Amino acid sequence: MSQMNPCKKVLVVGCGLMGAGITQVIAQAGLNVIASDRTEADIERGKSQILKGISKKSNEEQQRILSHITFTTNMEDGKDSDLVVEAVPEKLEIKQQVFKQLDRFMKPEAILASNTSSLSIAAISSVTNRPEKVVGLHFFSPVPIMKLLEIVQGINTGEQTLEFAQSFAEQINKKTIVANDYPGFTVNRVLVPMLNEAAYLVMEGNDPEEVDNGMMLGANHPIGPLKLSDMIGIDVLLHTLESLYEGFNDSKYRPCPLLKRMVDAGHYGKKTGQGFYSYQKEKVLQV
Ligand SMILES: NC(=O)c1ccc[n+]([C@@H]2O[C@H](COP(=O)([O-])OP(=O)(O)OC[C@H]3O[C@@H](n4cnc5c(N)ncnc54)[C@H](O)[C@@H]3O)[C@@H](O)[C@H]2O)c1
Repeated sequence: MSQMNPCKKVLVVGCGLMGAGITQVIAQAGLNVIASDRTEADIERGKSQILKGISKKSNEEQQRILSHITFTTNMEDGKDSDLVVEAVPEKLEIKQQVFKQLDRFMKPEAILASNTSSLSIAAISSVTNRPEKVVGLHFFSPVPIMKLLEIVQGINTGEQTLEFAQSFAEQINKKTIVANDYPGFTVNRVLVPMLNEAAYLVMEGNDPEEVDNGMMLGANHPIGPLKLSDMIGIDVLLHTLESLYEGFNDSKYRPCPLLKRMVDAGHYGKKTGQGFYSYQKEKVLQV
């Protein structure tokens, strides 16, 4: 158990898919959380995701969780928080803009974390006057279900910040690993090339179901790589591959052309109803 002062209040910036999930797990753990987004409509969407996420719990438990959450369109309302978790879109300019603002109004001792999946923590921290207090807190989707919190140590991230991140993870009941600040960190660095290879197999004419069954029955994976790719989103997968490919300048990360064609066609996976599998008819897509 860590010796750190416990985290009492968290500001979450961006209440989309990840931000809403992060808000939910923090509130479930009994910490106070301020969930911010740009417009009332964004907040409403985030709020309904949280309500859906807790809908199977008792009324009393739902009320307890909601009592820990405040929604706002003004992130300065969270200025006295101990920690910020930023979950805005995966664009360096947007994140740097948010971090500049946070650095200006957050109390000096506050830790600033990004949920980025592919951007450099060093580049995000460089726009602040407290780079030693900036860290990556990479949650996995769906946040309330996935056990892991990947803590990303940037070149400037201080040891105390890492300890704080570990202690926060314990508070919200997540397991952690610490990863260095290179493209893909640890999990995506191993996972994403495997998913890319599975896409190549389909491009070469293999049946998606055969590939998935192979990995489930032969490698003991709980879900096949192509079904997992559909869940992650083919667009998100392609983007992560591109950042590995560019970040390491290494052809072993070159995205499979089939993934590009699927994105061109709008076949993003489960969210659009069509990926390696078809979710309208529950039939395998013939590619
Ligand atoms: N989707 C995933 O599976 C996943 C997994 C791990 C990490 N991530 C990372 O989490 C981050 C968020 O991803 P997401 O899937 O939740 O995206 P999303 O588009 O669902 O949510 C982003 C939210 O940020 C809000 N936003 C945009 N600009 C803002 C600003 N300036 N201030 C405040 N809010 C703003 C948007 O209105 C939106 O609600 C990204 O960095 C992504 O790479 C995503």
